Amino acid sequence: MSTPSNIKWAPLDEAMVESTKYTIKELFARDPERAGKFTVEAAGWMLDYSKNRVSRAVMRNLIKLAEDAYLKPEIERMFTGSKINVTESRAVLHTALRNVDPKAKVMVEGKDVMPDVRAVLAKMGDFTDSVRKGTWKGYTGKKIKYIVNIGIGGSDLGPVMANIALTPYTKRNLKFHFVSNVDSTHLAETLRQVKAAETLFIVASKTFTTQETMSNAEAARDWLVKELGSADAVAKHFVAVSTAEKEVAAFGIDTNNMFGFWDWVGGRYSLPSAIGLSLMLAIGRVNYKKMLKGYYKMDRHFRTAPFEKNMPVILALLGILYSNGYGAESYCVLPYDQYLSRFPAYLQQMDMESNGKSVDKDGNPVDYATGPIEWGEPGTNGQHAFYQLIHQGTRLIPCDFIGCCKTHNPISDLHDKLMANLFAQTEALAFGKTADECRAEGVPEKLVPFKTFEGNKPTNTLLCDELNPETFGALVALYEHKVFVQGVIWNIYSYDQWGVQLGKVLAKGVLSDLTAARPALNHDPSTNQLIERYRKVIGR
Ligand code: F6P
Repeated sequence: MSTPSNIKWAPLDEAMVESTKYTIKELFARDPERAGKFTVEAAGWMLDYSKNRVSRAVMRNLIKLAEDAYLKPEIERMFTGSKINVTESRAVLHTALRNVDPKAKVMVEGKDVMPDVRAVLAKMGDFTDSVRKGTWKGYTGKKIKYIVNIGIGGSDLGPVMANIALTPYTKRNLKFHFVSNVDSTHLAETLRQVKAAETLFIVASKTFTTQETMSNAEAARDWLVKELGSADAVAKHFVAVSTAEKEVAAFGIDTNNMFGFWDWVGGRYSLPSAIGLSLMLAIGRVNYKKMLKGYYKMDRHFRTAPFEKNMPVILALLGILYSNGYGAESYCVLPYDQYLSRFPAYLQQMDMESNGKSVDKDGNPVDYATGPIEWGEPGTNGQHAFYQLIHQGTRLIPCDFIGCCKTHNPISDLHDKLMANLFAQTEALAFGKTADECRAEGVPEKLVPFKTFEGNKPTNTLLCDELNPETFGALVALYEHKVFVQGVIWNIYSYDQWGVQLGKVLAKGVLSDLTAARPALNHDPSTNQLIERYRKVIGR
């Protein structure tokens, strides 16, 4: 039976001995070829990880850590449909969704899942064509102009993030909205911007039972029926994306207008499944296919490249070095591309819902840090908000900088300025500024401590030529696999999310206390007091 102490941490201890020998600045001074040596390429992305506290010896030890965790066979187990999501008894096969090899077979319990994957994609494609060409008509005979995706968590964050990321490829006369929050304001403000006769609602929910999504979907259906004057209108204005056919039918959506997926697709990994329907409607089936190809290229790279050249493995191992070696609490992702503005929020769910676990695979409490707190904002906005703390604060915050060499919107020299800021930040973080350098610049002695930058702050830089469907897909897959690798090394289950259940269950009980006629309250005193105040204010 494995226990936390059975994780072979010795290679990390060795890595730390090597890592603390030299600063990043010293490492560069010792090896002029360092930048090239600590750079890898995959699926249209370049990862320069030279501005990290790593030498060849550090990387060798980190790779040993991965080998000791049986990473290679674990990767194969995931790709080949083993039930690695043990607590839910499910395979984990988001990689099958983007397997664009026409001859590929992926078996789950003796059945090849690829024909179903291809069939759903084809159905999504046909539907997409009919909406985009205007042959799909609403109840009153009008074409669809507004698309409202109703979903939450993985059924929202991916579609929203991707819709923004691939804006240059979208059909601009279709207007997309995303409703997730059970706060009625979210739905109300959205409905103010659309016309019922021209609106298509996509109810996106793996389970079709999620409180927020079902409540918003029911309210949207009531609104539509009222606006168009007939319940028959629902068939032309509502489609569903789900694994739960019975629940979809019970809601009143024709199951012919349902786009299915499978229990082996985790919510936060579901963007390339039918959950991506709103995205396909936005960018069209051809661009969607290109995105899947990008995912697939990164998948192939991850599955086949040796660990020392394997981009997701390297990113994961660097994260482990800082979390478990240096005790870094958080991890920052900084896209220098406005189109990736929601990427950090998307990664939060992917990473924190996957690896925010405190028991190992045997149910024993772990005695080491697992998933980091992940956060970030697009550059350069973050520079004028929180970078101060990263540069001169007391905490170590490793950062990933993400940039694209070409912009979709060339305006004067704005893109040069954007990229100059990206490169300059990584330089400043790594090399800092010494007290002597400040003095040489004429900084008065009493200000020297304040103007000194310690440097030695680790960063990765990810660069692509251009953000397009293919590089976008590869980027998402890169981070998915990074999260997987870390989960393997931490010996935790990355594909369940039991931690979100308790709040959901308690909310149901609290709801009945808010709405029932003055039931006796038997929560804790603080919760009782809050409920009492709420009831008093709204007059119950
Ligand atoms: O937040 C918990 C969660 O189960 C996520 O994992 C999931 O993405 C989200 O809820 C939405 O679930 P569903 O797609 O079933 O509505």
